[in-house]
Amino acid sequence: MDCGRRRLLLWTAGAGGAATVAAAVPFAVSFTPSERAKAAGAPVEADISKLGPGQMMTVEWRGKPVWIINRTKEMLDSLRKTDGEVSDPKSDKPMQPDYAKNETRSIKPEIMVAVGICTHLGCSPTEKFKTGAESGISPDWPGGFFCPCHGSTFDLAGRVYKSKPAPDNLEVPPHKYLADTRILIGDDGKA
Ligand code: FES
Repeated sequence: MDCGRRRLLLWTAGAGGAATVAAAVPFAVSFTPSERAKAAGAPVEADISKLGPGQMMTVEWRGKPVWIINRTKEMLDSLRKTDGEVSDPKSDKPMQPDYAKNETRSIKPEIMVAVGICTHLGCSPTEKFKTGAESGISPDWPGGFFCPCHGSTFDLAGRVYKSKPAPDNLEVPPHKYLADTRILIGDDGKA
């Protein structure tokens, strides 16, 4: 089975978890291009006008889930605590756009955009925004993402924790703002 199909199947298998999130938050997707163009990798536009603080939405780009998270101040503050616990805190590894190479891994500090596919073997991590023991991860969990396949954990900037199977931070896809509440995923005007 080719890698792309495997990833799609794994994402589909994980869609139950994603659906839980989608029920609580907006699932606003604007599929401007035709279905055929989209399948070929055309950019997709996301309307984040209804995405409240602490919420996350998912759009599909190139058959992959792309998460958009509106991080609260507390969520952003947690990144300072996780800085020493993640394996690539500055996103120095290649394959990351320049705007992922800062402390929030984002163009706007509060808005995180990341491909929701684990960099280990392609499962879809689960959102774990609850902190502490309530998360089911650990008593001092600061919020982030958990991959159920082999236990990789990521912080709220998609940075992978040290000593986990996933080798890299979650991918930040090329993207840019068309307006304050409109993001174009798949085109940052630089490629
Ligand atoms: S696929 Fe995520 S930890 Fe293995």
